[in-house]
Amino acid sequence: MQPVEIKKDIFWVGAVDFESRDFHGYSLSPQGTTYNCYVVKDEKNVLFDTVKHEFTPTMLCRLSKLMDPADIDYIVVNHVELDHSGSLPQLIAMCRPEAVICSPMGQKAIEAHFKDWEQWPIKVVKSGDSISIGKRSVCFLETRMLHWPDSMFSYIPEDRLLISNDAFGQNIASTERFSDELDRAVVEHAMTEYYHNIVLPYSPQVLKVLDMIEAAGMDIDMIAPDHGLIFRGKKEAEYALAAYRRYAEQKTQKRAVIIYDTMWHSTEKMAYAIAEGLRSVGVESRIMDLKHNHHSRVMTELARCGLVIVGSPTHNNGILPHVAAMLAYMKGLRPKNRIGGAFGSFGWSGECVNAISQSLSDMGMELPVEAVKNKYVPGHEALAQCAEMGKMLGQALIDKCAADSARA
Ligand code: FEO
Repeated sequence: MQPVEIKKDIFWVGAVDFESRDFHGYSLSPQGTTYNCYVVKDEKNVLFDTVKHEFTPTMLCRLSKLMDPADIDYIVVNHVELDHSGSLPQLIAMCRPEAVICSPMGQKAIEAHFKDWEQWPIKVVKSGDSISIGKRSVCFLETRMLHWPDSMFSYIPEDRLLISNDAFGQNIASTERFSDELDRAVVEHAMTEYYHNIVLPYSPQVLKVLDMIEAAGMDIDMIAPDHGLIFRGKKEAEYALAAYRRYAEQKTQKRAVIIYDTMWHSTEKMAYAIAEGLRSVGVESRIMDLKHNHHSRVMTELARCGLVIVGSPTHNNGILPHVAAMLAYMKGLRPKNRIGGAFGSFGWSGECVNAISQSLSDMGMELPVEAVKNKYVPGHEALAQCAEMGKMLGQALIDKCAADSARA
């Protein structure tokens, strides 16, 4: 349980959770995650964030290799969600810090989470505030709704270090600590997945924060998030910043995802026919059966798709449960700038396809092509109709990509 020096006198003292598999319905399988926290040794020793409660001994073990925990002077709470503040009561009791530093909304969140907060030396900081800790200073930037009201970044200009809390995080459990130690595709996938399962609804706030960072001319050569790998060096930091801008902008992409569940393979056959139609106009797609693909994986796929096509047979006058759950999850994550399509088989009532169309429309998706539904098992004619639907949706996507490029 050793600390890891990430810059001179700045250490990672977090914990790796290889076993965690669920975060609010976001499947962490097969990776697990990390809870990162950092200590800066200076005239004032500062701890940035803590870990999930059950990992407190791990964190204390690493911290104790650096100093007596009682020598921590300040604890900065960048975010009160319990994967980062679970150790806070125990740490405060052990360290007796001079100050527990948080944003104004952080104070409210602390009061709502911890019964002993009145005994804590809370110091509230706002965007633009900074404190001196000796050779260094720490500047604070409130990042409200990225992804909680209390969220905050800490920036150490002397080290060009941005401690970014959940932002730029990835759910990766590994012994590596830095993004340049793993294959870029692995890092990109994990960051994409994290963003599209947690941060996506807050994309407008992400763009504002990125603009603020640029406007302030913040010189960053390390981004240290509270989950996953640390981006060291200017090039890695710029990669992470550019990736977040790309994710947040949600520009239309010429690719489709076809999501479905099926009872007796009728809706499945329709899905494959739609994919053929898409391909005939040059739009590639991924077909995802929700029996085998967790909704988290679908959201990750959605990151590169401008077209979302959803299918289900009618079941008890409604949508099959996997598809209904998927739509509810997707709606909460508020994807923007996509077009949609609906399809499905039915036996006698057939309400499902309209319900899917309504759900996609409620998410703000344009539905440029009439939904296709088929009674019981689709024959050649019905499958040709599905292929035609795919073709028309594919063309609508191509037109949308062209229109977006012309506007850019
Ligand atoms: Fe990693 Fe919002 O907690």
